[in-house]
Amino acid sequence: MLILAIDTSADETAAAVTSERKVLSNVRYSQILLHKKWGGIYPSVAKRAHEERIDWVVDETFKKLKVKSEKLKVEDVDYIAVTQGPGLAVALEVGIKKAVELAKKYKKKLISVNHLEGHIYSCFVQNSNGNPKRDFRFPYLALIVSGGHTEIVLFKDQVDYKVLGETRDDAAGEALDKAARMLGFGYPGGSVIERLASEVDNKDFFNFPRPMIKSNNLDFSFSGLKTSFYYFLHSRVIARSKATKQSHLRSPRPAFGGTRDDNNIALDIRQLASSFQEAVFETLLIKTDLAIKQTTINRIVVGGGVIANLYLRKLLRILVKKYRGEVLFPPFKYLTGDNAAMIGVAANYKAKKRLFVKDFKLERIPRLRLS
Ligand code: KG4
Ligand code: ZN
Repeated sequence: MLILAIDTSADETAAAVTSERKVLSNVRYSQILLHKKWGGIYPSVAKRAHEERIDWVVDETFKKLKVKSEKLKVEDVDYIAVTQGPGLAVALEVGIKKAVELAKKYKKKLISVNHLEGHIYSCFVQNSNGNPKRDFRFPYLALIVSGGHTEIVLFKDQVDYKVLGETRDDAAGEALDKAARMLGFGYPGGSVIERLASEVDNKDFFNFPRPMIKSNNLDFSFSGLKTSFYYFLHSRVIARSKATKQSHLRSPRPAFGGTRDDNNIALDIRQLASSFQEAVFETLLIKTDLAIKQTTINRIVVGGGVIANLYLRKLLRILVKKYRGEVLFPPFKYLTGDNAAMIGVAANYKAKKRLFVKDFKLERIPRLRLS
C-alpha cells in the first residue's frame, strides 16, 4: 500500500512516499532561514514559500523514489494523505490544495491526518529496509513536545487517542525559543539552549519556577516561567549597567548576546540557558511521572522537535526505568522535526480503518484536536 503524504503545517514544505511503516522517499524544504529575522514563523512569508516549493517537493519525492529499480509516478500510489491541522491556516491550505488536486486528477482516495498523530507515529516509522522493527504494544502514553504543542495523550490503539493534558499557553519548544531569543540567539533556539546547557553539565543554577507542578492534573503552562526569566534577566542587566555605568539595555538582543566575549557573561549565559532548560524539562518529567501514576501505563512514546534534545531523552529514560517501563523516541533525527514521512505512516493506519475524506471536501482546521 503506497501513500503519498504532504505536510505544510508550519515552516517545512514536506512530502514523502511510504509503504506501511517504511519510508521510501522523503523530501522537505525548510523555510527556517526565511523566518530567522522575524524570530518566529511569519505567515505571509510561509504561505508564499510553500506555494513556490510544493510542486518541486512533490516532484523531487518521486525522483528519489525507486521500488525494485522501477520509477514510480503519482498515479502509482494507492492513497494521498495530507495534514489537515493543527497549524498555520495559510500554510495548511497550500498542502491541502495540492493533495486535493492530485487526488482528484488521479482518482485516489484522500486521507486527512492530524499533525499531532503524525508526531505520535513518528516513533514507529521505519527506513526503507523496515528498520527498526518495533512492534506496537498498546496502550501507550504519548508525550508531544514541539514548537507549537505540549500534550500528554493516551494512545489506546491504532488511531485511537484521548488527550489527558496540554499546555494552557506556550509550548515547551516555544518557551525554549523565547528564552534563547532573550539571550540573544536566533530562531529556533532549542538546540542552542541544549548546547549551552551541556557546557555546564545541565546543572540548575537559578531555580526558576516549575509551573503547575502542584496541580493534580496533566496540564502545562510555560508563559509564567518565560516572564520570570525575562524579569530575572532584566534585573541583572540593570544591576550590571549601573555597576559599570554602561547601558546594556539598548535592545533586548545585544543586551545579552552582544557581550558574549566577556568571560563572566559567557558563563552566565550558559548557566541561564541550563537553568531555564532544567525548569522546562523538570516540569515535563513531573507531569509525565504523574501520568504514569494516574494511568498505570509505563510505556511512553515521545514526538516533536524538542525530543531532538539528548538530555531530555536521558531524563525520560531514567524516569521509565523507575517504573520498569520503556520509552520510544523517533528512530531517526529527521523524524523529530516536521516531516511528511510520519504523516504517511499515520495515514497507513487510517487507511486500514477505511477513514477517508468524503468527496474530496477537506478544510484546514488550524486548531484541530486529537480525538
Ligand atoms: O516539531 P517541530 O519541528 O515543529 C512544530 O511542530 O512545532 O518543533 C520545533 C521546536 C522548536 O521550538 C525548536 O526550538 C525545538 O523544537 N527543538 C529543540 C531542539 N531541536 C529543536 N528543543 C530542544 N532541544 C533541541 N535539540
Ligand atoms: Zn510539528
